[in-house]
Amino acid sequence: MIEAKNIKKTYKDGTQAVKGMSFVLDKKVTSIIGHNGAGKTTLIRMLSTQLLPTSGTASINGHDIIKDVMAVRKTTVSIPQEINPIGWITVFDNLRLYLHARGLPIKESKLRAEKAMKEIGIWDIRNKHAADISGGQKRKIFVGMAIASGADTIFLDEPTTGLDPFSRIQVWSAIRKAKGQVVLTTHYMEEAQSLSDDVLMVDKGKILSKGSVRQLLKPLEKMVRVESMKKRSNSIPVGNTWVSYVKREEAESFVMEGDIIKPITLDDIFIKKGVNLES
Ligand SMILES: Nc1ncnc2c1ncn2[C@@H]1O[C@H](COP(=O)(O)OP(=O)(O)O)[C@@H](O)[C@H]1O
Ligand SMILES: [Mg+2]
Repeated sequence: MIEAKNIKKTYKDGTQAVKGMSFVLDKKVTSIIGHNGAGKTTLIRMLSTQLLPTSGTASINGHDIIKDVMAVRKTTVSIPQEINPIGWITVFDNLRLYLHARGLPIKESKLRAEKAMKEIGIWDIRNKHAADISGGQKRKIFVGMAIASGADTIFLDEPTTGLDPFSRIQVWSAIRKAKGQVVLTTHYMEEAQSLSDDVLMVDKGKILSKGSVRQLLKPLEKMVRVESMKKRSNSIPVGNTWVSYVKREEAESFVMEGDIIKPITLDDIFIKKGVNLES
């Protein structure tokens, strides 16, 4: 369980990246969603003891992230947004070295690395130098490390960014099988929607909403989204289209030629709250 109490981060240049967030995360998989600059990475870095909050604090399974740093680190794995494996050793060696460095015996490290590589779809490239694989495959190495670690809490900052759709499914199913609680960030709404138990929506350093996907979508439950090329009454500009929210049974009479009707997604919750994820 992760509990944050009015956690804040203001960077040296005055940027208020996280403006005071309080929440409890106690589900198996939580997705943090929000547009670029919303404060997701800053939040994850604080929770995983890589960055000190300016004020407030949080605890991971009862361990305070400021006072009990070592206890948090022992039981937590955090995979940053931008990271590269060691290029001149193999994929397999990257994984087992990491696990061994975390304190697992050599044999156990090997077994867990093998299992993770199969699960996540990098078994075929296990003997390649990590310098010679694609960006998506590199990303998978780190997700593999996290799930093989057996940590109680796993933070993954954009684990599936840049992955092809099939790889994303592999990664998600591996994440669901991980032993511990997983908190991740993602840009892919449909992914957050289909795979997380809980969603934390953030914008400009603040929490917009938190809950299960069902709870979050509830206010727009009986609606559809209509995208028009022209402004309609009460429509909201999104990119170069105008979005209207219309009751399902009224959609037919509302649409005009060229309009597109779409089902409601988490994107629409952002748009309704005045945040345009495409901007
Ligand atoms: N080291 C830093 N110094 C100053 N500002 C930063 C630093 N890191 C991030 N920021 C700023 O903090 C805000 C939140 O960034 P970040 O947490 O990376 O957001 P996200 O991960 O949601 O894209 C952005 O405005 C970003 O420019
Ligand atoms: Mg980020």
